Amino acid sequence: MRTGHQGTGPGAITPDGCAVDLYSRLPVGSEPDIIAAAVPAGARILELGSGVGRMTHPLVERGFTVTAVDESAEMLERVRGARTIHSPIEGLDLGETFDVVLLASFLVNTGDVEVRRGLLRTCLRHLADGGCVLIQREGDDYHTDLPRERVDPTGFTLRIVSSVPVGDGVNSVHAEYEFPDATWTQTFQARPMAREEFEAALAEEGLRVDRYLTEDRIWVRAMPMSS
Ligand SMILES: C[S@@+](CC[C@H](N)C(=O)[O-])C[C@H]1O[C@@H](n2cnc3c(N)ncnc32)[C@H](O)[C@@H]1O
Repeated sequence: MRTGHQGTGPGAITPDGCAVDLYSRLPVGSEPDIIAAAVPAGARILELGSGVGRMTHPLVERGFTVTAVDESAEMLERVRGARTIHSPIEGLDLGETFDVVLLASFLVNTGDVEVRRGLLRTCLRHLADGGCVLIQREGDDYHTDLPRERVDPTGFTLRIVSSVPVGDGVNSVHAEYEFPDATWTQTFQARPMAREEFEAALAEEGLRVDRYLTEDRIWVRAMPMSS
């Protein structure tokens, strides 16, 4: 288990505290639409932290060629229609490049600065000329509008119960997913980053914001500084 991460509930739990059975149940939202609108049709996508393929599958259905990376073999076993790579993201070097590198699910907000640098370096290392990195970062009120809950129309409730500072600019976040027949929890460490801090973190690794894809600035299209 990664330091400060923990998960409870039925089934396998990944090193960052995610439950494989939970992610198999979670519906996809607008993510594939946001991604498809920001990249060329038929692009080759390297998806970092794919999980069970919640976003992978709709992207494959739309004609993208996806390579899915995850450090959890149990997650990757459920991915269909995409090449899978079982590996930590940081340090990954496939020796090939992609039109798009996707770093979603707020992974860029990891509490560990060295891990964040590793994630962003992996993005840049795998980018083809003219390619872009799509990042999903935490929204501005992620750690402040608490506790909050969302009742999903498909029949579960997501609660972000608390976010408690644990030092060095890092918060410990506790989330609950309640279904009629099962409950999963995840505790994880995240680093809140205001827009300026996020942009500085990208710049540190040679990336710049090309444009924000959503009004809440959660989805970002980034390019190499040199382009
Ligand atoms: C919150 S889940 C999201 C999965 C998927 N992106 C989705 O939206 O359904 C995060 C996934 O990233 C993987 N992950 C987190 N940190 C990772 C790392 N540093 N290297 C490889 N995989 C990682 C976890 O194993 C997990 O499957």
